[in-house]
Amino acid sequence: PRACVIDTDPGTDDAVALWLALASEELDIRLVTVAGGNAGLSNTLRNARAVVGLAGRAVPVVAGAEGPLLGAFVPEPRVHGADGLGGVVLPEGPPAAPGIAADAIRAVLRAQAEVTLIGIGPATNLALALATEPALAARVAEIVLMSGAWAEGNITPSAEFNAWSDPEALAVLLACGRPLTLATLELTAQALVTPGRIAALRAAGGGRCLDAAARIMEAVPPSRRFGHRGHPLHDPCAVAWLLAPALFTAREAHVRVECGPGAARGRTIIDRWGRGGEAANARLLETLDADGFFALLAERLARLP
Ligand code: BDR
Ligand code: CA
Repeated sequence: PRACVIDTDPGTDDAVALWLALASEELDIRLVTVAGGNAGLSNTLRNARAVVGLAGRAVPVVAGAEGPLLGAFVPEPRVHGADGLGGVVLPEGPPAAPGIAADAIRAVLRAQAEVTLIGIGPATNLALALATEPALAARVAEIVLMSGAWAEGNITPSAEFNAWSDPEALAVLLACGRPLTLATLELTAQALVTPGRIAALRAAGGGRCLDAAARIMEAVPPSRRFGHRGHPLHDPCAVAWLLAPALFTAREAHVRVECGPGAARGRTIIDRWGRGGEAANARLLETLDADGFFALLAERLARLP
């Protein structure tokens, strides 16, 4: 199995992504690190501990940055609720492991030659780890991020939430020279949760984790962008890429992120057609077989307690 670190901010879709990863024997989850992101660190850390605990797994969960490298943390309760899980209460998980996220990520990289970094929140913790010891980047096999958009954003008209939450951190990852795969909003918009898909998930059986995942999905309001059809299950797309790449099509592209102040802050500028002539620095996931994705999710979540 592939040694992985997951950096997250649960977050309703983060919880589902964590369960998908923990259920999959292709991935050896060595560490979960947490950022404030969706709901503030006290909530996201409690949620990450609870999600790992409900799966019955002893993966260390370590607290990281509340806010971005620059500027202040801005709460955003509209999608995930004030508690980060849409009001779904999970049993208390095991305590957080000691230390801080960036140190813990570096320790995994020192101990292991090839590590895949999965980033499904603001990229602050991952960027701090690599910026404070750049030589460790050589031990990163791949970085997979849910971040950015090639068209419009979701938190501002220009920017996607994770990229907007810490653009400077995303810029560090884009410049680190390691293979980097991006699941943007255009990709995750194809993974729409609908009542029918939740019913199919429940029909897969499973135990307390699958039941909690279904309740969490039910708690997310339908996205304004998709009317009443559903909401995008963003973060599990990044994990699914590592499990079933045949569900996706992708292309190489040059990606940069706008770090200036103002209305475009956090916008990812994605050159899908090579117009700028710059060498590609990312693999852009473009299409998803959504039925295959939800079938994979159900099959894997049903394996958990
Ligand atoms: C991203 O922002 C968060 O709200 C989600 O968990 C996901 O990581 C989508 O823009
Ligand atoms: Ca997230």
